[in-house]
Amino acid sequence: IPVDPFDYVVFGGGGDLAERKLLPALYYRDHDGQLPASARIIGASRSATSDEDYRAFARKALEDHVGSDNLEAEAVERFLSRLHYYAVDARAEEGWDDLRQFLDDGGRDRIRAFYLAVSPSIFGDIATKLAEKGLVTDNTRLVVEKPVGRDLKSATELNDVLGRHFREDQIFRIDHYLGKETVQNLMALRFANALYEPVWNSTHIDHVQMTVAESVGLEGRVTYYDKAGALRDMVQNHIMQLLCLVALEPPSSMTADALRDEKLKVLRALTPIDASNVETRTVRGQYRAGASKGGAVKGYAEDLGDTSDTETFVAIKAEIGNWRWAGVPFYLRTGKRLSQRMSEIVVTFRSIPHSIFDASVGHVQQNQLVIRLQPDEGVRQWLMIKDPGPGGMRLRHVPLDMSFAQSFRTRNPDAYERLLMDVIRGNQTLFMRRDEVEAAWRWVDPILKAWEQRAMKPQGYTAGTWGPSSSIALIERDGRTWHEPE
Ligand code: BG6
Repeated sequence: IPVDPFDYVVFGGGGDLAERKLLPALYYRDHDGQLPASARIIGASRSATSDEDYRAFARKALEDHVGSDNLEAEAVERFLSRLHYYAVDARAEEGWDDLRQFLDDGGRDRIRAFYLAVSPSIFGDIATKLAEKGLVTDNTRLVVEKPVGRDLKSATELNDVLGRHFREDQIFRIDHYLGKETVQNLMALRFANALYEPVWNSTHIDHVQMTVAESVGLEGRVTYYDKAGALRDMVQNHIMQLLCLVALEPPSSMTADALRDEKLKVLRALTPIDASNVETRTVRGQYRAGASKGGAVKGYAEDLGDTSDTETFVAIKAEIGNWRWAGVPFYLRTGKRLSQRMSEIVVTFRSIPHSIFDASVGHVQQNQLVIRLQPDEGVRQWLMIKDPGPGGMRLRHVPLDMSFAQSFRTRNPDAYERLLMDVIRGNQTLFMRRDEVEAAWRWVDPILKAWEQRAMKPQGYTAGTWGPSSSIALIERDGRTWHEPE
């Protein structure tokens, strides 16, 4: 469905995110006929660049990240003709009037979206300049990338600044995990089926695991990453959002506030982790030299060019103190330079109360629902069945398997494609509300503080493994194991 005419202004238009994600996503939407003829995309950043040079940059971005073989010449030319470029500096006066003039020429009532794909340290400055220079109209939306702040205090301050110039319904705090197909599918699985919801609680579920593993290392984001670390970079946002979607009560509808109200309740119900339990509930790790995808790779300190106490891996045993989830641990882990790129949610159901089968016919394993977020998106429900054949009863653990690639044979759209268009549609369902971000920090802050109080330094792990051995101990202490990637 085409959207209303709009102007998309991307601050940091020549940056990494624009190159890898935003321009390719907008190209695909244009290619699929979703962009109205008059839609314009404006790159903005400090350096002086012409429209022509910006188009050349975008052409290269599409070739590299969509792939020359996947591009259609006509669609590329149409897309590039929508691109413009303006040089503005968040901390200087120049350029803003020209940008405003350009936007106003398109009409002050058309939708405008300002996407801040820049360092969070200048989010506030840009928001303020936009307002002061008269660029904010009633139909304006502001998109901010994570991280929103680096702790509760800075997040609150930033939200205050944004709130001074924009209404909450104009602010789109992006968490691209919410735009992933399989993450949205979690909602369909839970609430479009009668099967799961009645057993989705501590009576039937033994525990939940969430793994977001990456094989990449720092990827040139040294300065940002070393200040952030895995807890801020991945847990405070992506993993906590996943946890909310698994744990929330059924919202009354899929409207933005109905869903976000329920997510907020989960965040508020998380059992605190502080200096009293941080050592048994969390593991910090940092990768050392090892091997990835068959090649030798350096350790974090060598990648960084310095020694550092920043964690590149974190594992947490989280608990939600409410009726539905009391006593059900949520084991979370994420890290860089792990064995493979693999994200999944595994829901393990309780053991059967009594086995009628003799041990010799096979061990009755717990049912598991494995939701694979990436790669090879799909859902597998593991069940016990009888091994087919005349040899008598033998039990086997097999999956009911739904691989998206095999079932649908369509291109799996990138999360940004959906989210960029939701901004234009004004749909905030898949974006984080102010109180959610702050509630997530309220849980994360004491962990950061407790690490400091307990002088918990990251433990080394060899690149290409599954993290420090203590992360395995974290779950095995409870008589459980991390799900082996299939
Ligand atoms: C980003 C993090 O938000 O998510 C990165 O800042 C991480 O460190 C990335 O690599 C992972 O995203 P995806 O979509 O590749 O799983």
